[in-house]
Amino acid sequence: VDRRESLYIVSNYAAKFFANKMWNSEAGKTIGLSYFKERGFREDIIKKFELGFSPDDWNALLDAAVADGFKQEFLEETGLVIKNDLGRIYDRFRGRVMFPIHNFTGRIIGFGGRTLKTDKAVPKYVNSPESDIYHKSSVLYGLFQAKKAIRDFDNCYLVEGYADVLSVQQAGVENVVASSGTSLTVEQIRLIGRFTKSVTILYDGDAAGIKASLRGLDMILEEGLDVKIVLFPDGHDPDSYIQQLGADTFKTHVEKNKKDFIFFKTEILLKDAGKDPIKRAGVIREVVESIAKIPDAIKASVFLRECSNLLQMEERILISELNKMKLGKA
Ligand code: CTP
Ligand code: MN
Ligand code: MN
Ligand code: MN
Ligand code: MN
Repeated sequence: VDRRESLYIVSNYAAKFFANKMWNSEAGKTIGLSYFKERGFREDIIKKFELGFSPDDWNALLDAAVADGFKQEFLEETGLVIKNDLGRIYDRFRGRVMFPIHNFTGRIIGFGGRTLKTDKAVPKYVNSPESDIYHKSSVLYGLFQAKKAIRDFDNCYLVEGYADVLSVQQAGVENVVASSGTSLTVEQIRLIGRFTKSVTILYDGDAAGIKASLRGLDMILEEGLDVKIVLFPDGHDPDSYIQQLGADTFKTHVEKNKKDFIFFKTEILLKDAGKDPIKRAGVIREVVESIAKIPDAIKASVFLRECSNLLQMEERILISELNKMKLGKA
């Protein structure tokens, strides 16, 4: 077997190890599994995503893997174990609930591990480092489990985090993936583009989520995909919304609040602009900037008309602005 293949195999071994610890060890059951259950995740979802628990020991995985004949070198290369400057070697993931990350063909390539502590000094998530099989910028969490539904529904819901994917899936909406905290990348959008040309952003309902949505929609438009955005009430993400209000309320919220990018962007920016005419002109310009990113000229002109109606601005002025932007003069 080649080196990369060895990294896949050791990652798969680790996922099985963490799952086994969660379902069969005392600490796993009382700490790990009960954590997921208290958050409202059903067993079928926990199994579908192969969730697990890493024991709170320095060498639990290392010792088990070495005893089972794995070379330490591959554990290090995947970042499952860390060798520090003093040459001391230890498990990266300790006492955390584990989310294996699959590539879209279903092979495990990395992990996210969530702390069970509420202590703000402890990082909430620890993730696998980049390796020869794990390139964070070109992975979408949940794509393997979602890809069939994405094709069938010809749409992809895009959320921020691991728990969002689980809850949305549990609500029966299977066409969902997460960008997992990294700001959305072009590679991730192109990956979605292999399955559908339509994306619906469901980011967290906070300032960071709104900012990421505005940035994400421009990038998605630039790649020639269609994009809609759903905003959640402040402080909610899709997971907390579903767990608090239920699957039906979630689905209704998504349908009722799904906005095309023009409405979304206009609404967000106009809130800040108030009645100030100069600021309102700035809003128009920014919306036209997004339209200018659409490669398809016919689509762009349809959106320009919508923009003209919504913002009460003559279409020919918008067209001339758009053309200036395309020529890089604005
Ligand atoms: N993330 C990360 N490292 C962090 C914080 C976040 O990698 N220290 C990534 C994770 O993939 C996380 C996503 O960014 O799922 C979204 O972050 P956030 O909204 O802060 O976390 P939640 O997913 O909402 O986490 P939870 O519901 O478990 O508290
Ligand atoms: Mn590589
Ligand atoms: Mn957030
Ligand atoms: Mn959350
Ligand atoms: Mn969140």
